[in-house]
Amino acid sequence: MSKPTKVGDYELGNLIIEGKTKQVYDLPSLPGNVLLLNKDRITAGDGVKAHDLVGKSEISNQTNGKIFEILNSVGVQTSFVKLAAKNAFISKKCEMIPIECVTRRLATGSFLKRNPGVTEGYRFYPPKFETFFKDDANHDPQWSDEQIICAKFTFNGRLIGRQELEQMKRTSILIFEILEKAWQLRNCALIDMKIEFGVDTEGNLLVADVIDSDSWRLWPSGDKRLMVDKQVYRNLTTVTQSDLDTVKRNFQWIRDQLDHIVPTDNHLVVIIMGSPSDEGHCRKIADCCKQYGLNVDIRVSSAHKGTDSTIEIVRYYESLPKKIIFVAVAGRSNGLGPVISGNTSYPVINCPPVKPENVNLDIWSSLNVPSGLGCSTVIYPESAAIQAAQIVGLDNYLIWARLRVKQLVNFISLQDADKKLYNLTL
Ligand SMILES: Nc1ncnc2c1ncn2[C@@H]1O[C@H](COP(=O)(O)OP(=O)(O)O)[C@@H](O)[C@H]1O
Ligand SMILES: [Mg+2]
Repeated sequence: MSKPTKVGDYELGNLIIEGKTKQVYDLPSLPGNVLLLNKDRITAGDGVKAHDLVGKSEISNQTNGKIFEILNSVGVQTSFVKLAAKNAFISKKCEMIPIECVTRRLATGSFLKRNPGVTEGYRFYPPKFETFFKDDANHDPQWSDEQIICAKFTFNGRLIGRQELEQMKRTSILIFEILEKAWQLRNCALIDMKIEFGVDTEGNLLVADVIDSDSWRLWPSGDKRLMVDKQVYRNLTTVTQSDLDTVKRNFQWIRDQLDHIVPTDNHLVVIIMGSPSDEGHCRKIADCCKQYGLNVDIRVSSAHKGTDSTIEIVRYYESLPKKIIFVAVAGRSNGLGPVISGNTSYPVINCPPVKPENVNLDIWSSLNVPSGLGCSTVIYPESAAIQAAQIVGLDNYLIWARLRVKQLVNFISLQDADKKLYNLTL
């Protein structure tokens, strides 16, 4: 493939590396970033089988762009910056870890060969995580954790040790689960997936390279015979133009499906406070809700002093074609949450603004509700937001993903804190 001087609006610097399917260029105008130019080339069997496929670069680039936009939007740390042209995108410049991280939901393909006796379709939970050293000449051998740790890879000053490996494992599984849920919206089963990690110039461990139709097995309706991924190409013994056309049509179909995997955004969290003096507490709940991508309304209504208006507010929200979650914020005697709960079938979360000196008394008005009521009670604003996000996340994978990403971020920051303090005490 020849070396262009400009792609889209970007002047290219040096060609840093050329692999089987992409060229990577420095970008003099954007230091710390690179441009990845996709090739119209499809390869399999560590590059032994390879064909030109006109149009593949654009399809792969669009597929990859859509997937990484989803991952960035839910807070996964990736190298992807933005699309730069039909067949190119901009990424943070990384030193790449030469490990393919494979995550599997169902046993198939090479897993069955390496694990004789396991039946095809065996379901892994959690998803199975495997690592392979990127070495075409030796057919990408599987590597154990110990082999990766003992290799002492160091990229941009960061040693790839136990902690980094654990982060790669958890991130791979998380991404698999996010994309598995996304594809469920199109009635497609994500069977397995490969990703790669790199370390950027600041030492951050990022999901890098690409995720496109070369990266996964995808079975419409969960039916292997309907596969639409690169396995179709891998399975060909002779390759005719008509075979290549089929592969390309499949890849186009996958790209087009990605336009339809945006969940419908029809939820609303209604935070109702019994008194304007609870505004600060309610704003904390709203801020936490927004971090998870939840839509929020804030209202004031006292169930004790303005029962009619409380019920009118409930009826108004019930009239909207949306999924409503009420969060009731009332101090002292919480009449609000139980009254709402007794008069609607939507979920009600009590989040009373209790203080240490009155928690033992006041909390009971939220907990000890009359029969027939099912409101729940939490006392921290963050907990109310998380519970609302969990309810919405049941059928909105983006909200669900943000909850999972937050858990991963918490895990990583605990690991970092442990490492820092342990090193200090040495
Ligand atoms: N963000 C990035 N920064 C630097 N290099 C990258 C980045 N993303 C991917 N690469 C590298 O780009 C090269 C070209 O990709 P590809 O053609 O897929 O190579 P390969 O045949 O080795 O899989 C690979 O060496 C890959 O590791
Ligand atoms: Mg590659």
